[in-house]
Amino acid sequence: MTSTLPSLLISIPEGVLDLGWGHPSPHLHPTEALQIASERVLSQQSTVPLQYGAVQGFGPLLEGLAHFLSSQDAYGNLPVDPASLFFTAGASQGIDLATTIFARPGDTVFVEEPTYYLIGRIFLDHGLKVVGVPTDRDGLDVDALELMLQDGYRPRLIYVIPTYQNPTGATLTPERRHRLIQLAQRYGFTILADEVYQLLHYGPPPPPPLTTMDDPDHGCIVSLGSFSKILAPGLRLGWVHASSGIVQRFVDSGVAASGGGLSHFAAAMAQSTLDLGLLQENLDNLRRVYTMRRDAVARILSTDLAGLLDFNQPDGGYFFWLTLADGVDADELLPIARKAGVSFRPGTAFSSVGMFRDSLRISFSLYDVGDLAEALSRLGQAIRSA
Ligand SMILES: Cc1ncc(COP(=O)(O)O)c(C=O)c1O
Repeated sequence: MTSTLPSLLISIPEGVLDLGWGHPSPHLHPTEALQIASERVLSQQSTVPLQYGAVQGFGPLLEGLAHFLSSQDAYGNLPVDPASLFFTAGASQGIDLATTIFARPGDTVFVEEPTYYLIGRIFLDHGLKVVGVPTDRDGLDVDALELMLQDGYRPRLIYVIPTYQNPTGATLTPERRHRLIQLAQRYGFTILADEVYQLLHYGPPPPPPLTTMDDPDHGCIVSLGSFSKILAPGLRLGWVHASSGIVQRFVDSGVAASGGGLSHFAAAMAQSTLDLGLLQENLDNLRRVYTMRRDAVARILSTDLAGLLDFNQPDGGYFFWLTLADGVDADELLPIARKAGVSFRPGTAFSSVGMFRDSLRISFSLYDVGDLAEALSRLGQAIRSA
């Protein structure tokens, strides 16, 4: 049945190569693996995936995911306890639920400046005040954070993307991770560590998730992972990884009590892909393809677009953060670029106070190397004519 109403979040005008979307490539969706998984889920004569699920999440996947994550270099090959996990309907929903649990209207949430451009909406929905903290090439500027705390700010939450940050691609150094946790413990705020890109590294692994550094008895960190970036975002499945006390707060939430475990059916699907070895296979393939794309973009930026902009090569994730030379304004560049058949997300979208007029984010997740090369050629043309 055809419909005139949209099926997808993404929409791209005809003829435009849009580097603004941080969505996975449709050609990389593991349709075959998920077909096999769904046949297995539905043919086992079990009605379990069709019932309300256990509040913490689908038990076999809690165990399966804990085992899987423990085997990953990006988790430092550290043991992950199933008791430290709670399933969400994706990282976005996990952040929304964490905000319900840990904050009240009128509270302050610190975010990185710049940060993931859609996150502010979640905090504003909860009546929070969003305040930016400066960042640099090593991620959150912890000295600046400490000064703000000494100046009297009392945030209830800080939202950080410690690994392959969206939009900058930066990764927080181990030393800064320690200091951030010390500050959270001293000033009594909770860290929401959005780590959805943790497993997408294109070289040596990043530092392990922040929660692995937390105090197991007096936790202050909620790490958020997602199947959106390693399997498929349509599943709407992610996880909280935290100390058992924090996991209990999620288990006790009203939404889980009423509706049971979140994304229960999707969790059964994910468990099936794990059992069949298809999750690891898919992750290996994503890393291989995205590494080629990342390398191609870096090569083109440093040759064909040399002198037009500055950039930092990301070690993982989806994004390049570009800083334009010669005072070119990214907001003004955008309509010119669109006319040239390319689009991007301007830097101001990532700031709560309209900073980063000279910057923009491009993603290499959606297009193959040929389209990326064409898109960057159009971008170069647009910058030259701006
Ligand atoms: C930093 C960050 N957090 C969260 C999300 C969304 O995650 P999910 O699909 O698990 O809700 C994205 C997607 O682009 C993201 O970049």
